[in-house]
Amino acid sequence: MKKRHSSLKNSLYSKLVVTYFIVILISFVFLAVFLSVWFERYYYAERKEKLISQQPIFNNMMEGYKYGTITPKTMDSQLEFLDSYLNTRIWIVDRYMFVIASSSKEDKELFMITTDEMYDVLKGNIVSKEGAFKDKFKTPMLTVAYPIIINNQVAGAVIMNSPVYEIKNTLNNIYRFIWVSAVLAIVASTVIIYFLSQRIIIKPLYEINETARLISSGEFERRVSIASKDEIGDLANSFNTMADSLQKLEDLRREFIANVSHELRSPITSIKGYIQGIIDGTIPEEKHEYCLNIALDESRRLTRLINDLLDLSKLESGEFSLSMGQFDINELIRISIIRFENEIEKKKINVDVMLAGDSLYVLGDRDRIGQVLSNLIDNAIKFTGENGKIGLKTTIDDKNVIVGISDTGIGIKEEELKLIWDRFHMVDKSRTAKKGTGLGLSIARQIINQHGEKIWVESKEGEGTTFYFTIKLGENI
Ligand SMILES: Nc1ncnc2c1ncn2[C@@H]1O[C@H](COP(=O)(O)OP(=O)(O)OP(=O)(O)O)[C@@H](O)[C@H]1O
Ligand SMILES: [Mg+2]
Repeated sequence: MKKRHSSLKNSLYSKLVVTYFIVILISFVFLAVFLSVWFERYYYAERKEKLISQQPIFNNMMEGYKYGTITPKTMDSQLEFLDSYLNTRIWIVDRYMFVIASSSKEDKELFMITTDEMYDVLKGNIVSKEGAFKDKFKTPMLTVAYPIIINNQVAGAVIMNSPVYEIKNTLNNIYRFIWVSAVLAIVASTVIIYFLSQRIIIKPLYEINETARLISSGEFERRVSIASKDEIGDLANSFNTMADSLQKLEDLRREFIANVSHELRSPITSIKGYIQGIIDGTIPEEKHEYCLNIALDESRRLTRLINDLLDLSKLESGEFSLSMGQFDINELIRISIIRFENEIEKKKINVDVMLAGDSLYVLGDRDRIGQVLSNLIDNAIKFTGENGKIGLKTTIDDKNVIVGISDTGIGIKEEELKLIWDRFHMVDKSRTAKKGTGLGLSIARQIINQHGEKIWVESKEGEGTTFYFTIKLGENI
C-alpha cells in the first residue's frame, strides 16, 4: 500500500491527470478564442447593420437641410433623440466635411473631419472602424460612416460612433464563464480519472505487481483475479499462465529433488551396508564377491543417474555442441541392441530387426544418437513383459532416415503421450521408480532437437509403443 501512494509524482494517475489537464486547457483556449472572435464579429456586424439601417432618416434630414425646410437646430434635436435611442454619437457632415449637425452638446461647434476614411466615404463607400476618433472619446468606439446620396450625388455623410464597452463586457463575461467551466472540467475530470484509473488500471496493476512479488518470494500458488476483457485482462491472463508454468516448474523441481534424493540414497545405503558388513565381518568371506558386485552395480547406477543429470543440464543450457559426422546408423543400432543382450535374454524378448540396406550412412553426432537409441531400447525392454517383441527399423524417406523402435509392451495412455517428454515424468511412479528417473526421453528429445530433427511417439495402451526419430541421410561411402 505504501508503495502505491509514495510516488504520486511519477504515478500513472498523475501522468493521466496532467495529460487530461493539458488537453482540457488546450480545448478551452481554442473554445475561448473561437467564441470571442465569432462573437466580436457577430456583434460588430449586427451593430453596423443597425446603424446603416437608419440611412433613410438621414437622407430625409439632409434633403430638408438642403432645401431649407429643416433648421440645423431641429436636426440637432432629432439626432439627440436618435442618440439616446441608439446610444450612438451622430454627426452629419456636408460635402466639404464640415459638421453641420451633432447629437451631442459637446460637439456643438462646427468642426471639420478630415481623415482618409472620410474621403473614402464621400466617394460613396461605407466605412467602419474601431477607434477612429481615439482623441475625441475616452472609451473605445465603433465608428460607422456612410454617404448621404441625393439625386445620385453625394450630399454629405453620417458618422456614427457607438461605444463598444458593451461587447468588451460581454466578452469578459464569456471568458470568465469559459475559465470557470475549464476549472470545473479539470476538477471533475481529475475526480473521474481518479476513480476510473483506480478501477481500470491502477488497482489491477497493483494486484499483478503484488502477486508477482509474492510469487517471487516463493508463494507459487498465487494468481491474479482480473476478469476485464481489455489489455489489462490479457496481461492478467498471460501473467497467470506464466505463474502456472512457474508453479509447474517449481513442482517439477521439488519432485526432482525428492526423486534424486531417493535415487541417491538407496544405492548409497546399500553400498554402505555391504562395505560395513565386509569390514566388521558380519558378511562371511564367501559372500564378499557377490556383495561387492552388487555394490559395483549400485555405484554404476549412481554414475548413470549423475551423468544423465549433467547431460540434461548441459543440453538444456545450450552449452553443448554436437560433433557432427557421417556414420552407419544400421551398425549403431546393432551395437546398441547387443548391449542389452542380458536383459533381452532374461525376459525372453524377441527382437525383430528390419534395416534398410546393409549399411546406411547418416549425418549426426554418433555418440549422442547412440544415447538416444539406448534410451529408447531401454524403455522398450523395460516396459515390455516376458516373451514380448521389440522391433528396430530404418526406412529412407526422401533425404531422411526414419528410425523406429517398437515394442509390444504396456503402451502409453493417450493423455500421457504429451507428458512423457517432460523431465522426471513417469507414467506409473510406483512401478518404475526403481528403474529410472524419467530423464531418458527428455535427453533423447533434446539431442534430436539439437540435430534439428523430429522425434515422436505412437502408442496404444495395452498393445505397444513405437518411437520414431528422423536423421539426415549422408552419402553412402
Ligand atoms: N516404450 C514405452 N512403453 C510404455 N511406456 C513408456 C515407454 N517409453 C517411455 N514410457 C513412459 O514414459 C516415461 C518416461 O520415459 P523416460 O525414458 O523419460 O523415463 P524412464 O525410462 O522412466 O527413466 P530413465 O529413462 O531416466 O531411466 C516412462 O516412465 C514411462 O512411463
Ligand atoms: Mg527411459
